[in-house]
Amino acid sequence: MPHRVCPWWLGYLLASPLRRLYQDPRAILSPPSAVRHDRRRDRAGMGFFTLDIARLVGPGGRVVAIDVQPKMLDALKRRAKRAGLPDRVETRPVAGEATGMEDLDGQADFVLAFAVVHELPDMHRFFAAAGAALKPGGRTLLAEPSGHVTAENFAKTLAAAAAAGLRRVDSPRIRGSRTALLEKGAGQA
Ligand SMILES: C[S@@+](CC[C@H](N)C(=O)[O-])C[C@H]1O[C@@H](n2cnc3c(N)ncnc32)[C@H](O)[C@@H]1O
Repeated sequence: MPHRVCPWWLGYLLASPLRRLYQDPRAILSPPSAVRHDRRRDRAGMGFFTLDIARLVGPGGRVVAIDVQPKMLDALKRRAKRAGLPDRVETRPVAGEATGMEDLDGQADFVLAFAVVHELPDMHRFFAAAGAALKPGGRTLLAEPSGHVTAENFAKTLAAAAAAGLRRVDSPRIRGSRTALLEKGAGQA
């Protein structure tokens, strides 16, 4: 699979309110995608989903937004501030082999990986880190753009998730996307 990183300036387009007409974050994040807990991880971009997740987690919740491009996170921080949500959103720039989830073992209720796994250098590392960060029974919503990711490559992505102990429990319908709702077993550490 190609690992070309989405250019930072495209982040403005991805965070545009017009995208809601095509992919509505509130609908995508509603049950059974199950943003119903208070700790999330989001592969961020400029935060098309992050701000809605921050609203959903409520005042006591926390969202960790991780991206390899600091410019994406700078724009997200500005947007979170304008929305009155800076205290709920922590931004984490990552580099090299880091996933940004190393210190989160067993703390996350939900991980969102929207249109990002095909850009990662090592999806096995990502799913292992997401699996470790999730609480038992926690969920990951995986969505990959169907224009970029073939059915065959998506099957490889699911195999990597399964190898990390993340079981597919649903395939939510999201426009332009191949999707899987993945769950960490309730008895898994
Ligand atoms: C296509 S954008 C999607 C952004 C957002 N999830 C959305 O749907 O609007 C992919 C994002 O993944 C980020 N990314 C690429 N490689 C990464 C890595 N190794 N670690 C963290 N983020 C990465 C890019 O910088 C970009 O912001």
